[in-house]
Amino acid sequence: MNGRYGVPATMIVCLCEAVSDREIKGCIERGCRSLGEVRRTCGAGRGCGACHSMVREMIDAAPSLSESVGGSGVSLVQEPQQA
Ligand code: FES
Repeated sequence: MNGRYGVPATMIVCLCEAVSDREIKGCIERGCRSLGEVRRTCGAGRGCGACHSMVREMIDAAPSLSESVGGSGVSLVQEPQQA
């Protein structure tokens, strides 16, 4: 979604730590798949906790890691070996 002047719109998701949706999406794109990982990576969610549900929704909406590699069939998650 674009905001004024064609600049992509952004919003602050975590008010306590002033972390934007773009920063959180960046964390997710780099592999964060839990609130704890996002918290450690960019700081979102370290305060009051009001943003936790939105951060979790963003994580849930993200493609799986194997899909995010461009559908190349490459999986970053090690599959269990069959005996
Ligand atoms: S708004 Fe994110 S911890 Fe308070």
